[in-house]
Amino acid sequence: MSQLSVPHLLGIKNLSVQDLELIFQTADNFKDVINRPIKKVPSLRDITIANVFFENSTRTRLSFELAEKRLSADVINFSSSSSSVKKGETLLDTVNNILAMKVDMVVIRHSSPGAPHFLAKYIKANIINAGDGTHEHPTQALLDAFSIKEKLGSIAGKKVVIVGDILHSRVALSNIFALQKLGAEVMVCGPNTLLPKYIGQLGVKVELDIDKALAWCDVANILRIQLERQQIKYFPSLREYTLYYGVNRQRLDALDKPITIMHPGPINRGVEIHSDVADSEHSIILEQVENGVAIRMAVLYLLAGAGIEQ
Ligand code: CP
Repeated sequence: MSQLSVPHLLGIKNLSVQDLELIFQTADNFKDVINRPIKKVPSLRDITIANVFFENSTRTRLSFELAEKRLSADVINFSSSSSSVKKGETLLDTVNNILAMKVDMVVIRHSSPGAPHFLAKYIKANIINAGDGTHEHPTQALLDAFSIKEKLGSIAGKKVVIVGDILHSRVALSNIFALQKLGAEVMVCGPNTLLPKYIGQLGVKVELDIDKALAWCDVANILRIQLERQQIKYFPSLREYTLYYGVNRQRLDALDKPITIMHPGPINRGVEIHSDVADSEHSIILEQVENGVAIRMAVLYLLAGAGIEQ
């Protein structure tokens, strides 16, 4: 079996193009499997995986769990809100206690950037980053790139704009790394206050005008305004944000070509995206969710094959 160049999936930044292509090829195979009447394969029998979530999640947590079950792994789920973290237990103690139960892989979501990297240093298990604060969300970027390839046939040469709250988004950073490695042109678009100061150094185009950004792109990946991460006001009101940056049918109809619409979810209908766009024939939002299971199966399968030094 071909292997990834890394024992952990901590981010997209440290993956090679060959790693990305191997994950996509493997996901293609698993997508065939999950469309069969019998959706389960024995690939990860006797492997135990802990899903350790310190932040809320619907799509990522459920699709990791489903991917693990489709691969016949044993699965345990940990949610910080109902755990002994509430009694003061640290991240390292929590995970070491989970590992004492003989766990092979840990899927972790945490609000602190670098939490998965910290665990990878101290824990003898394959670590998968399911989102670390405002830093990276690698499996989301993988499923996004896979979905673009599936829809448009290729990624190289395609123009992708990421719209909205880039400043607080882990999806944006992982998408930028993945798409650039695969040869796409990437633009970010949003109000100046929601664009990080370092963004120009990442080699992306920057556009403040949403209509110009939509006219430029083949694909628009629209992000949620992450109010839960905002301690100060970055724009006067949600109403004003929607007026200037909300993607609606009128904006799409004004373009001279159809574009593909993506969103990592959860979507805030009527804020960053309107229902007549989210539910339109141009939207691949639910295909992204479907592809999330195959991509996570591929990542788990390939990392399990890599093992971990004991
Ligand atoms: N896209 C994504 O990470 O969604 P969840 O927060 O629901 O997992």
